[in-house]
Amino acid sequence: MTPNSAAPATTTAPTTGQAAARPSAADGHTWWREAVTYQICPRSWADGDGDGVGDLPGITAHLPYLRELGVDAVWLSPFYVSPQADAGYDVADYRDVDPVFGTLADADALIERAHGLGLKVIVDMVPNHSSDEHVWFQAALAAAPGSPQRARYLFRDGKGADGSLPPNNWISVFGGIAWTRVTEADGRPGQWYLHLFDRKQPDFDWSNPEVRAEFESVLRFWLDRGADGFRVDVAHGLVKDPALPDWDHRLEMLGDADADADPDADADADASEPEDRPHAPMFDQDGVHEIYEQWRRILNSYGAPDRILCAEAWVEPPVRAARYVRETEMHQAFNFDFLDARWDGPRLRTAITDSLAATGSVGAPTTWVLSNHDVVRHASRFGLEQDHRRPNGIGAKDRQPDRLVGLRRARAATALMLALPGAAYLYQGEELGLPDSTDMPDAFRQDPAFHRTGGGELGRDGCRVPMPWAKDAPAFGFGSTGGTWLPQPPIYGDYAVDQQEGVAGSTLELYRTLLAIRRQHRLGAGTFTWLEDYAGHPAYDEVVGFVTTGGDGARVGVVSNLGAEPVALPTGGRVLVASGDLTTEGRLPTDTTAWVLLTG
Ligand code: NOJ
Repeated sequence: MTPNSAAPATTTAPTTGQAAARPSAADGHTWWREAVTYQICPRSWADGDGDGVGDLPGITAHLPYLRELGVDAVWLSPFYVSPQADAGYDVADYRDVDPVFGTLADADALIERAHGLGLKVIVDMVPNHSSDEHVWFQAALAAAPGSPQRARYLFRDGKGADGSLPPNNWISVFGGIAWTRVTEADGRPGQWYLHLFDRKQPDFDWSNPEVRAEFESVLRFWLDRGADGFRVDVAHGLVKDPALPDWDHRLEMLGDADADADPDADADADASEPEDRPHAPMFDQDGVHEIYEQWRRILNSYGAPDRILCAEAWVEPPVRAARYVRETEMHQAFNFDFLDARWDGPRLRTAITDSLAATGSVGAPTTWVLSNHDVVRHASRFGLEQDHRRPNGIGAKDRQPDRLVGLRRARAATALMLALPGAAYLYQGEELGLPDSTDMPDAFRQDPAFHRTGGGELGRDGCRVPMPWAKDAPAFGFGSTGGTWLPQPPIYGDYAVDQQEGVAGSTLELYRTLLAIRRQHRLGAGTFTWLEDYAGHPAYDEVVGFVTTGGDGARVGVVSNLGAEPVALPTGGRVLVASGDLTTEGRLPTDTTAWVLLTG
């Protein structure tokens, strides 16, 4: 199968229609309960000025594409003033746009255009740390130990007679120790500051009321400009155990490094957080919740329709993650359990059951996500053997994914995801079936995780390569000059938007169809029941099947076949869409998902 392969015979293609005719999940106050949000990395989506880096005017010009795709909202990864030491997650000024992306006026224009198209805009808020080039951190460096300027961050004296040892043994998420020693004004080696990520990302001290007040003001700044909400970076990390005790484990942003550091270890080794391990002193402290209660009050004060918060919280187990979406806190939290479940029937069923139970227990919608800017794209992940945990990047020396298998599974996985009740997140380019760049020369890699681990971790550049829009244009249509801040693999041309638009059966048209049917039947507002014919039946261990009754009352059976043999679809129904061709007998082949409108 290629990205623009022939259409499954069973696909029906509803029209996407005009704004007024489009029944929108985003119409109501609680739009977020069933919204589909499309994530854009501003560096990599569309380059309006031809400097090789994407920007806000480029995004604004391409927003109609998202409208046609059929999503409800767009989430923009950070576009603030930043030295870009971590792709913008190192913010030097939370109230302005980095010149590489444009101006504040460009941000205003983007929000206005999006709203005109019926799209919500979610801004990325980065409250755990700033850039070391933030005016507050520069003031802290210039000030003395114990000063109010230093009290906005986590400065501590070092251990040992001359303070030359770091204050504790924490390891940065990106590798290396999580502390950097500064030079004091008199030229002598001085205190250390904490950075859970890169040394250019000093952590704020959230026990300081000044920090809290500052972020409340920043939230209002963007809400006043029309932002519809915030994705909250490292939402589980703001509050640390005040004793900053040693911690003999390494935590990763994208999972738990302790869980199976050996990739050849037992396949079940990463199933959950080790139960015998004490709670991490830097993550998921109870104190974070009152911060989000206060933020929720601020958002609520803006009235209807709801402005929202979505937590990026790598928290285990799901029941702890659900604490972030209690009625008085955030609206959504990313469902990383689902993302981590692999292409594996039992794991997917468990992830779905547990997620629905956890968020259901607090009355919040579940969210679903398969790809983002921090993980290998699912079209590549699922092309690898599924007996290992998700890799942090794929390089030329690694086992290469099977592109066709990966794409087939990715289409099936997305079809499964978009039928599940709740909200969903898409990552730019996945609607094209885009694979990661898996043979990028190391010289191009920019991810601090690559550099801080001496190349031990390849990092996330592979999923951040600029979008292909047009096969025969410079930089595949990303920008007019042909420049791209990361190299695009030559095969990206075959995945370009112009190769798929209007081509029946292409991955882009499949996404459009799925999103249109999802909207038509309001599947995001649906109920959920496992299909008894498959669930728990040993012969169907690798089949994931459920029935959902959409918000419009339509009953839809959803079946994903991850097994080797074709399986029968529920009888008495009409196939609405399938992620690939059915067999000539109308059965569902391996690595395929179908939605069936049940009439019986
Ligand atoms: C999570 C973000 O998704 C990631 O890209 C970033 O590197 C870290 N937080 C640090 O801000």
